[in-house]
Amino acid sequence: MEKIVILTGAGISAESGLSTFRDTGGIWAQHAVEDVATPEAFARNPDLVHEFYNARRAKAADVAPNPAHLALARLEREHAGQVIVVTQNVDALHEAAGSGSVIHMHGALNGALCAACGHRWPAPQEMRTSDPCPACSATSTRPDVVWFGEMPYQMDAIWQHLEEADIFAAIGTSGNVYPAAAFGQHAGRAGAHTIELNLEPSVNVRDFAELRHGPAGSIVPAWVEELLSRQT
Ligand code: OAD
Repeated sequence: MEKIVILTGAGISAESGLSTFRDTGGIWAQHAVEDVATPEAFARNPDLVHEFYNARRAKAADVAPNPAHLALARLEREHAGQVIVVTQNVDALHEAAGSGSVIHMHGALNGALCAACGHRWPAPQEMRTSDPCPACSATSTRPDVVWFGEMPYQMDAIWQHLEEADIFAAIGTSGNVYPAAAFGQHAGRAGAHTIELNLEPSVNVRDFAELRHGPAGSIVPAWVEELLSRQT
């Protein structure tokens, strides 16, 4: 039974109305990474960091999954083998579409994390550092997202999935951020068929055996349809 592992990035949520990071006018054109997405930024100016993530949380609450998210949920439901989605996205659109096996390697906007004791709880819509931790009462509340300089979540499980994959697909990611940028090469060396589905060639295009370029909302449902029709 074929195991399919899928890495997603901001491009899969673009057609839902969420900005990507590195496209023209993307998030990193409007905010400097070192002001809002590092532990040092949070230590220096936590209010600014919360303002950035509160705005992203509000925007994410306002959008719906697009045909690409829905197609991956369908793949998980109808494919005879295991389907694992590893996402770099902090939105919850895969879950909203119905995907159950989702690993949020860069964390999630809907999570709060106590920087003092590590306790996690559901994020309020508007988060502040002064929100007391429900476990230890410290007032060091931060979004449960992974910042530059921090270790992405669940890496042991992810490397294992990549090694077991028969098919590895990267969808809507520019391939600039490690370790996710190394997944195609890793899965390919471990024997997976590798495929890139992206609006344009990513910086890691040479790591993929198969390439499909176009908007995720069109090319992902077509790819899923092909995979499912092959198994019947
Ligand atoms: P990027 O903004 O770097 O790349 C998005 C990719 O999606 C680009 O290659 C686009 O061409 C492509 N794209 C745009 N619209 C698309 C569409 N409709 N269909 C298909 N592809 C489309 O975003 P990521 O690669 O996800 O990390 O960025 C990776 C990480 O960098 C993020 O998780 C975030 C960021 O800094 C942290 O904040 C830690």
